[in-house]
Amino acid sequence: MAAMSHQIDQVLIPRRRIARRVRHLAAQITLDHQQSGAEITLVPILTGAMIFCADLMRRLSMRLKMGLLTVSSYPGSSVRSQGPALLAQQLGELTGRHVLIVDDILDSGGTLGLVQGLVAELKPASLRTCVLLRKQRALQRTVKADYVGFDIPDVFVAGYGLDYDNYYRNLPDIVTLRPMMAREAQQP
Ligand code: IMP
Ligand code: MG
Repeated sequence: MAAMSHQIDQVLIPRRRIARRVRHLAAQITLDHQQSGAEITLVPILTGAMIFCADLMRRLSMRLKMGLLTVSSYPGSSVRSQGPALLAQQLGELTGRHVLIVDDILDSGGTLGLVQGLVAELKPASLRTCVLLRKQRALQRTVKADYVGFDIPDVFVAGYGLDYDNYYRNLPDIVTLRPMMAREAQQP
């Protein structure tokens, strides 16, 4: 545990703020889907969206099913996206259903672009996207999210499901890492 915590730079979003925002997002999602009157299918993009989705779905009272997708764009200890790769899918039947894609963070938009395209091909009744974090970068604007938890600066973050080299996902807060860890990100 000591080895993990000494590499954290600072807490960017503490757990209480996350919890409050998740409650608000869930209320908004509930309201928006009430009109359609139907049940939904949640599609968290694994592994990063695991914790966020687990908290969010417990705040949704409508009937729902789950579909799973695993996408990776930061293999190993990379802090730069290598482009999204679809590793596994277990989506179930999405045709004619109201689908909500859930992801941890919208950065370049490569991941969500890939997943939105893939799900759209299955002809859902509606398709919405919810992300906990959105990095402020110009490129991502071509890919839209209907629900955004927090806009954050273009820094590498970990915790609450987000990883560095598959570590730190279990941190309850969203943190930035020491420059030593983010060395690669600072190169031009
Ligand atoms: P995009 O494809 O560039 O939009 O990146 C989105 C994906 O990359 C997310 O689903 C995350 O899993 C991962 N990602 C992007 N930025 C970070 C970060 O700062 N920390 C950890 N993972 C990140
Ligand atoms: Mg991810």
